[in-house]
Amino acid sequence: MSNVKFYYGENVPLEMHKVRIVQKLDLVPIDRRLEAITEAGNNTFLLKNRDVYLDMLTDSGVNAMSDKQMAAMMEADDSYAGSETFTKLESKLHDIFGKKYFLPAHQGRACEHLLAKVFVKEGSIVPMNYHFTTTKAHIVLAGGVVEEIFIDEALQVDSENPFKGNMDIDKLRSLINTHGPEKIAFVRLEAGTNLIGGQPFSLENMGEVRKVCDEFGLMIVLDASLLADNLYFLKKREPKCKEMSIREITREMADLSDIIYFSARKIGCARGGGICTDSTDVYMKLRELIPLYEGFLTYGGMSVREMEAMAVGLEETMDENMINQGPQFIAFMVDELRKKGVPVVTPAGGLGCHINAMQFLSHVPQTQYTAGALASAVYLISGVRGMERGTLSEQRDEDGNETLAHMELLRLAMPRRVFTLSQVKYAVDRIAWLYENRDLVGGLNFVDEPQILRFFFGKLEPVSDWQVKLVEKFKADFGDSL
Ligand code: F0G
Repeated sequence: MSNVKFYYGENVPLEMHKVRIVQKLDLVPIDRRLEAITEAGNNTFLLKNRDVYLDMLTDSGVNAMSDKQMAAMMEADDSYAGSETFTKLESKLHDIFGKKYFLPAHQGRACEHLLAKVFVKEGSIVPMNYHFTTTKAHIVLAGGVVEEIFIDEALQVDSENPFKGNMDIDKLRSLINTHGPEKIAFVRLEAGTNLIGGQPFSLENMGEVRKVCDEFGLMIVLDASLLADNLYFLKKREPKCKEMSIREITREMADLSDIIYFSARKIGCARGGGICTDSTDVYMKLRELIPLYEGFLTYGGMSVREMEAMAVGLEETMDENMINQGPQFIAFMVDELRKKGVPVVTPAGGLGCHINAMQFLSHVPQTQYTAGALASAVYLISGVRGMERGTLSEQRDEDGNETLAHMELLRLAMPRRVFTLSQVKYAVDRIAWLYENRDLVGGLNFVDEPQILRFFFGKLEPVSDWQVKLVEKFKADFGDSL
């Protein structure tokens, strides 16, 4: 019982809250799970929640809210224009980020849509530490190109680098020199870099990006959707941040940014989004689009109840005792899986536990959607729903060829303050069993492949009868157990 601060014993995280409202769960038998995943075209997005035991698809919009957030929802002012709720949220954001203006939007991708519409032109380039699916789609739709200038270690699955989300400063400078600053729409930094396993960037790196941007007169756009996790890791890992409060670190990051946008489905534990800036010019350019695409300027497509909850949730994000809950549960899961030999992304990041499907299923080629196959198999043997983050989440090129992803990951998201440790242990046990039986798992082929963001609606089938064989082995080992 050495470590008392947030940890118990060697690696058991301490919940700094108690559960006061619960949602009943079912664990349907494996025969039903086989039917369900077949009906869903082996796409976990298409499963019905009633067939899911632990929903680890995403942390988006499914984090547990606090009693104070729920209470705040009762106070919402639903005036169409000039709502008091908006003023409250605006002043909370001003308090936290110190920016003059706040533009509301219904969620993160809506902010990306508006930013791309205003700043990205045909042939524009947007350098970033790594893309997110919706970010890239909006930039490409506006005629731009995404340039990912991550550090070499970003894609190294097993690593000890504490800041795999850092941007490579030399590559950034040479990209700008090659194309000229006028071609660059803005430089985007994504906190808690989602697609490489929820990995943070350092404050020092952000400062260096700022210097380069100042040299060339470029804006930094910070995607703060996963900022809470990034803040936690800064406090834990960056020497300079150890003596700073979460609020101070946040303000320093905000001061280094020209525009901050966020999905409040992640940060703030509510549902919504928005854009903050100090620039009157940026504000004026974006402002006219809000009523056109989102809703009036004082709600931007959000429910006023969610806005109230968001204001409280953002304040709660400034509490280290709150933002440690996600990363510590993830670290526990990653540690336990590692002990059982399961290949996972390290160091443990934010958002969720990421399993390295390329190594887990080394016999399944990427053209048969390695991570997609693992997502299907994990659901089948456990009722745990994860999300494929690999080739399936990419789009084909203009000639119809597969774009093979840098990594094949199965993401098991850890919605904040939602699951208990025994549920996490259950997931670990079942995944470890699957790892021992991994040779039974085969690949997938498309039967229905949409052209845009195909991972949302695409349907696939197993390349052989591997799922039937996996079910047989499961029953042989577990008997009547679900
Ligand atoms: N930026 C990042 C880093 C994200 O992770 C997301 C969403 C968005 C922007 C878009 O925000 O969903 O509110 O429109 N990520 C979710 C996920 C969907 O499951 O990782 P949104």
